[in-house]
Amino acid sequence: MTSNGSQAALSDDRLQELAKRHLMMHFTRHSTFRNEDVPIITRGEGCYLYDSKGKRYFDGLAGLFCTQIGYSFGAELGEAAATQMAELPFYTNWSYAHPRSIELAAKVAELAPGDLNRAFFVSGGSEANEAIIKLVRQYHQLQGHHHRYKMIARRIAYHGTTLGALSLTGIYPLKTPFEPLMAGVRHVSNTNRYRRPHGESEQEFTQFLLDELRGVIEQEGPDSVAAVFMEPVQNSGGTFTPPEGYYQGVRAICDEYGVLLVADEVICGFGRLGEWFGSTRYDIRPDIVTFAKGVGSAHVPLGGVLMTDDVAGPFLEGTTVLNHGITYGGHPVSAAVALKNLEVMEREDVLGNVRRNEGYFQELLEKLGEKPIVGDVRGAGYFRSLELVKDKDTKETFDDEESDHLLRGFLSGRLWDAGLICRADDRGDPVIQLSPPLIATREELDFIHDVLDTVLDEAWDEMQRPHSHGSGKVVTGGRQVVDTN
Ligand SMILES: Cc1ncc(COP(=O)(O)O)c(C=O)c1O
Repeated sequence: MTSNGSQAALSDDRLQELAKRHLMMHFTRHSTFRNEDVPIITRGEGCYLYDSKGKRYFDGLAGLFCTQIGYSFGAELGEAAATQMAELPFYTNWSYAHPRSIELAAKVAELAPGDLNRAFFVSGGSEANEAIIKLVRQYHQLQGHHHRYKMIARRIAYHGTTLGALSLTGIYPLKTPFEPLMAGVRHVSNTNRYRRPHGESEQEFTQFLLDELRGVIEQEGPDSVAAVFMEPVQNSGGTFTPPEGYYQGVRAICDEYGVLLVADEVICGFGRLGEWFGSTRYDIRPDIVTFAKGVGSAHVPLGGVLMTDDVAGPFLEGTTVLNHGITYGGHPVSAAVALKNLEVMEREDVLGNVRRNEGYFQELLEKLGEKPIVGDVRGAGYFRSLELVKDKDTKETFDDEESDHLLRGFLSGRLWDAGLICRADDRGDPVIQLSPPLIATREELDFIHDVLDTVLDEAWDEMQRPHSHGSGKVVTGGRQVVDTN
């Protein structure tokens, strides 16, 4: 029997056979599995995962930046789910409320900064951003601003994969197979400090970014711009933190032009940066926040939109309704599990753990930053990246072929063999992304360091071998100012 008692456990061979025959995995090169086994994760404990062969891995990515409390509170959260299942397994938030969605809305509002007081629940991050696109457009319509529909997001940012959210996403290879996407989306520079022009000061960098944002709003026509979307710390490209004064400047520009500021907190929310919301850490003061992942530590599918009283106001008058809904929004079982997750996070002082250890984590990674292959070390809280370069002095990066060899041909396999799950990513320049469960101890952070210490040296040696040489691309100086998608 399996541990849930429902059917006989399948052997690893049988699972492999069935996975290869029937399962279409997300963003996965299936051709690899002609010669290799599918990685099958069967159980978790603390910050560790076990595969179908019994091997243990440290989960340095917290699932997909989402299992804040790791893998040992499933039974406790499961009890909350079982109680809710027995009491009310489902009811809808379409015209009705139920206790758990009410309690969760109030709890999320209590944890959020400022007057972000009203929550609209969905099933995940893409759906949350999708909901915002509609909410923002309808909000402006209700104000009589019928032409405000355009959105501004940042290059290489990931905001999800449904067609609206994908339009906001700034990673072109993800978008091109599905074009044309939603009209009226522009992308501006992200806050990649490492690639800013040589000699540029922090203030000049902030000013450049703000001037660019203002320029795009002016170019599009200020009366046509509805919202600006930003993650407090941008994940894709490798944990880009904001330069000094950036969010205060963005807020001022949004106020000046009547544009709504949206913080996509799908990753940063619920403790990843040591605060309940990244907006608190950077004093962003957004009009709207999206959240998902960490709110339930990914034990259930759940996401949401949190809006200020001012944004909610027009939807609460007369015959007006927010014209959006999905069946599972505010699902009572998801809400019950999220409430229990937040209770566990408070009881275990998970945010305190991040705050106490973030400096230590940074120091460990800075030691790795001395290696020739590590060009930059960046991030905040339990959300960090190492950028890998071909030449540290010139910041020369690897070309596409080299990057593919380094990340997919070498690092992914070596890290997996060494028992560390993290992300080797080249949606921007090549980076290793780290986002451990928020319960990770210093000893566990040491483990991350120790594995990378060895594997990055091996990676450097590997890239010195003649077969992996390519032309390289230097991207230190130039900067694209505005794209035109
Ligand atoms: C910042 C951000 N926004 C939105 C999403 C989309 O969330 P989901 O995969 O739950 O649809 C993600 C997913 O990783 C994300 O990182």
